[in-house]
Parts: sequence; structure tokens; C-alpha cells
Amino acid sequence: MLNSEAERHPFLQGLSKHRGAPPTVIVIFGASGDLTARKLVPAIYNLCLDNLLPPNFFLIGYGRKDVSDAAFREGITKSVQTHSRRELNADIWERVKNSAVYHRGDYDDDSAYKGLSARIDTIEKDLGRDVQALFYISTPPSVFKPILENLGASRLARRHQNSPCASRVVIEKPFGSDFDSARELNQVITEQFEEKQVYRIDHYLGKETVQDLLVQRFANSIFEPLWNRRYVECVQITVAEDLGVGSRGSYYEQSGATRDMIQNHTMQLLSLTAMEPPVSLDPEAIRDEKVKLLKAIQPLNPNERDGDVVRAQYDEGLIGGKKVPGYKQEEGVAADSGTETYAALRLSINNWRWAGVPFYMRSGKRMARRVSEIAIQFKRPPGILFGDAERFDLASNTMVIQIQPDEGTTLLLNSKIPGLETRTQPVKMHFRYRTTYGSNTPEAYERLILDAMIGDSTLFIRGDETEASWRLITPVLEHWQSLGPRGMGSYVAGSWGPLASEQLLWRNRHEWRRAGP
Ligand code: BG6
Repeated sequence: MLNSEAERHPFLQGLSKHRGAPPTVIVIFGASGDLTARKLVPAIYNLCLDNLLPPNFFLIGYGRKDVSDAAFREGITKSVQTHSRRELNADIWERVKNSAVYHRGDYDDDSAYKGLSARIDTIEKDLGRDVQALFYISTPPSVFKPILENLGASRLARRHQNSPCASRVVIEKPFGSDFDSARELNQVITEQFEEKQVYRIDHYLGKETVQDLLVQRFANSIFEPLWNRRYVECVQITVAEDLGVGSRGSYYEQSGATRDMIQNHTMQLLSLTAMEPPVSLDPEAIRDEKVKLLKAIQPLNPNERDGDVVRAQYDEGLIGGKKVPGYKQEEGVAADSGTETYAALRLSINNWRWAGVPFYMRSGKRMARRVSEIAIQFKRPPGILFGDAERFDLASNTMVIQIQPDEGTTLLLNSKIPGLETRTQPVKMHFRYRTTYGSNTPEAYERLILDAMIGDSTLFIRGDETEASWRLITPVLEHWQSLGPRGMGSYVAGSWGPLASEQLLWRNRHEWRRAGP
């Protein structure tokens, strides 16, 4: 039974065992970029180590720099040594390393794509079998369009169409910078590829704990009856980082916390937390529910004083006892920058399940600690028996799903302190990945690259989904754009954000919980 069920639903398959991908060549556009070195190549290595790469696997790095094959192979080996979660095993890596070649080309040069096409044909000819091409676009967004158009014009997009070896394209974020640009990008994509060939990445979806959200919600019977406006007081989603913008100042200036984190990662956490149960684990069934949820969110009021959003920039402060500069002093950042490094939102979901339950989201750089979590705060019990606040220290029951670090779930309950007097105290029930499963869980990119190879789009964003999220956020961004730095709040680096974000919750008599286990 499990087998046939697993065959119908690729998500289940992913949970149980790997189904072999056809012979595959991954072409990474942006081969000398940071993401390739830090995440993509180490992920490929770890898949190789777990024997999850197809037996015939090839890697082509595409980039503008002049790099020899030997230097490319050396570079990818170094990136495994530096960034892989598991040590380099040279014998196992040999297989991928020897298959790797570098293809130099400009992104808008059609002859370079002809050359690429010829290379893939040669691989196929030597192998004597069809090969699936997976084009991984990990470049700055300014060249997404020429790459996609050239993949179309060179017919690379249409190789082995409608067969198991049909081409696929993986697109990194940022997917547009507002609703119009996201829609335009979707149009460019769909002129060259069918939606089923397209894999828009949000690496949060590849995190183990995020995948577990579906399981925790729908493979247990005790939560779902409580998961609604009758029992839930509010939901708080926090994605906090202690790092600053580092060397990415000039990228971040164009982005800010809302485009960089809220529009994608936190919105994904929100939709998986709040969506209705899908009719099956089919990728489309899950994505349909996410889109429905996003569409039910009430438009945001962007006003500073009585609105639903707060933005701020970090000032200098202390992180881990060390002094760190303010955002405006970071390299590549304008002295009069109007870019927010922190954003908080209050969302209302206008559907039967959630009407009247505020959903709060916040994300920022240089916050007190690195922590991502979803906290479901339940309504307080009636104060009939233990309502006397002098005697009883009662907390709201809260279920906290810790996305990272220290992955797990915590349930906050009230308990009697042992003793002859009746006194209460909040206590925590913990489930920790580390203690239950050990600490070496796969990185998000391992799962996502594997899924793209085997053609499971569950953990990728559909075109209409990204548009629905941009539709909600864009009016806020436009409002902020019109104000520039005027009205921008500030917070001390190493703190939990600006006072205005506390006030956003006080209006509903709520307060941010202190995030963390
Ligand atoms: C990226 C953002 O998408 O996510 C970065 O561009 C951010 O600014 C990163 O630091 C956070 O990812 P993670 O997996 O470390 O939480």
C-alpha cells in the first residue's frame, strides 16, 4: 500500500526513498558566484555521498570569467572542503569532479548557447542515452531574461520535450522586485518553458523543519481541531538573523528585509502554517491551497501610525559582546539610505478558519540572535479556577515550531509546582531533532536539487504563488519608496527591533514572544 501511495505522491516518495532520476547534466549559470560555492556544489557533493545522484551525472559551470576545466574542478573541490556539512571523501567526489567542465560565455551571446548545446549533445552521444538538462540560474536577476530567452532560442529549453528527459529550469531568488516585474519574469519564463518545467527556489522550503510542518499539521490528529479562530489567539512568525549585511551592502540596498526575506521565506512559512488541508500530497494540490491562503490575506495598511507595517534600520550596537557598525556605515550602503533592515507586519486572513486572528511576521538583520520560528499562541483558559494572577503564573499555551537553529517543537503548558501550596508555573515540552534524529540533517539545497532532478515541484514556488505574495507586499514597498528615508525607524544592533514593532502588537493587546527555545 505504501509503495503505490508513494508512487502517486512524490512528496511521500521524498520522505521515504529516492526514485532514480534519468541521466542528468546540471548547467549552473553563475558558476563562479558565491551561492554556487557555498551551497550548490556542497549540496551536489552530499547527494553524491548518499548515492542519490543518477549514475550518469554531469556538471557544467557556465560563467563569464575565463576559467579552465582544471581550475573549475579545483574550485568546486575547494568549495566542498570549505562548505560541505560532511568532510570531503576524494574517492567518491572523483566521479562528479571528473565530469565537471566549464563553459565560458556571456549571458546574451547566442553562440555561447550553441556551444553549450553542442556540449550536451556530445555527452549524450558518448553515453548513448538521452540526458536530461537541468539549467540552474544562479546569477544576478539582471541577466535572468537573456538567459531564459537564449535557452529558448537555442532550443535547449525544448530538448526531449514531453519525455522523462525534458529540460528543467531552476530559478534562484530574487524573483522580481515587485508585482509587475515578477509578472513580467513569469511571462518570459512561460514563453520558453511550460510551468511543469519550472522550479522557482525558496530555499526555506527545503529546510527539514519546514517540510515537517505539513507532517506535524496533517499527520497528527490533535492539532488540527485547535488550528482555527476558536482556539488560536495569534500567530507569530520570526525570522531573525544576528548577521549584518556584510559584503552584500550594494545588493541589499536594492532589496531590504521585505524583498529579501518577508515576500518569500516568511510568506512561505505563513502559507504552510495557515493553509487548508490539501486534498492530496500532489504538488499542485499543496500549491493550490497556498495560493488560496495568500489570496485571502487582507490588503495591508502601510501607514506608519495606525497601519499594519513597521520598518527600521539597525544602528551600531553589540553582537556577541563585539561592537558592530550601523547599517549606514556598512560597505556599499548610502549615507542617506532608505532601505529597511527590519520589517514587521500584522496580517489578517479573511477566511472562515482565521477571521479575527492576527498573524504577525518579523524579520531583520543584526537582531539579538539567529532564530526562525513559528509560534501558535492559543487563547487563555477562562479565569474561573486559576485566574488569580497573584497566585498563579499562567502562560498562554503556545506551540513553537523552531525552524532553526536547534530545530524542533516546543509546547508551552502550565503546571503545578510540586509542594503543599497550589502554585503554577509555565513549563515546556520539547521535541528536538538533535536528540531524536542526530544533528547531521541534509541541507535545504540537497533536497531541492534532488527534487528538481526527479521532477517533484512540491517544494518550489508556482508562478501564481509568487505573484499573489508580491501583490500583497508591493503597495507597502511603493509607499515606503515614496517616503524615502522619512519615517524610517531604528534599532540598536543586537536588540529585538524597534519599539514601533512592539507597539504594532500592543494595539491588539499582544506582545512579541522572546523567540528561541
Ligand atoms: C537569503 C537572504 O535568501 O536567506 C539572506 O538573501 C539571508 O539575506 C538568508 O541571510 C538566510 O538564510 P538562512 O538559511 O541562513 O536562514
